[in-house]
Amino acid sequence: MNYFELLAWLGIGSSHPGGFPATQQNLEVIQVKAEDYVLDAGCGSGLTACHLAKTRGCKIIAVDINPQMVEKACLRAEKEGVSHLVQFKQADVNNLPFADNHFDLVIAESITVFLDKVKVYQEFYRVLKPEGRVADLEMVLLAELPPHLRRQMEACFGSDTNPLPPEEWLNALTQAGFQDVMIKNPQRMKNNGNVIMNELKKDWVLVKGLAEKAAYLPSLITRLQKNAGFMKKNRAYFGFGLVCGRKPTPTPPPKKAGFRDWIRQALQWKYTRSYSTKVL
Ligand SMILES: C[S@@+](CC[C@H](N)C(=O)[O-])C[C@H]1O[C@@H](n2cnc3c(N)ncnc32)[C@H](O)[C@@H]1O
Repeated sequence: MNYFELLAWLGIGSSHPGGFPATQQNLEVIQVKAEDYVLDAGCGSGLTACHLAKTRGCKIIAVDINPQMVEKACLRAEKEGVSHLVQFKQADVNNLPFADNHFDLVIAESITVFLDKVKVYQEFYRVLKPEGRVADLEMVLLAELPPHLRRQMEACFGSDTNPLPPEEWLNALTQAGFQDVMIKNPQRMKNNGNVIMNELKKDWVLVKGLAEKAAYLPSLITRLQKNAGFMKKNRAYFGFGLVCGRKPTPTPPPKKAGFRDWIRQALQWKYTRSYSTKVL
């Protein structure tokens, strides 16, 4: 079972740095309005999307590539009474099944860290309306990771795991075309595993059948402990923050000269000529 399959099997709700408390802090900063049309890219089991629908009343489409995640997220939306606001779909964020200029806001949490950042941000850019915003909670590298630690990180979270230093996250957004790029709510990785565990325990999608799952696959507990242990031991290398940007309004092409401009130019030319003739 790879890391994503493990998360999907568990139906884990906030599998990103800082857990659900970080999501809540970020939502304060993002200031989502009821009229915003939001895409949650790589939504997992839908905890953030359903919370957003309940607390802001906005319409959300949330996508994940893993069908098990999508199934659990749909169940969550139904049970929490927000199916009329949030719709879950199986889709790849590299190739989103939406038209250009579709959303006001794209949110993502711990997904681009595993993917080609510029490619995914270009896709976010495409589906955002002009002046639309992207807000992506991702792991940030605070110091160069020695090769043996990089190998351990990849063994825990998958071989594509690649957190970037802050300036490289911002470069990726800029390369995709975004403006006003900045990292909001930057934080160091804290040793707050207990806080996150307490939050996770409140998530019924995760807790449902957890004991049976652990009994069925005892190596699961060891695996989760190994991942948590790696982050705890090496937390000096890692932080996280909300990577933000805005899609600019396209500048209109220069206006073609019309009849009025043509007359103006002709008169100007005539005036300059007669003036320069007099001077001569
Ligand atoms: C670490 S989890 C984070 C899930 C959720 N955003 C959260 O914070 O709980 C990463 C998620 O991204 C999904 N994912 C990975 N690659 C994807 C892709 N190319 N397109 C859409 N989802 C993807 C995985 O299935 C997984 O649910």
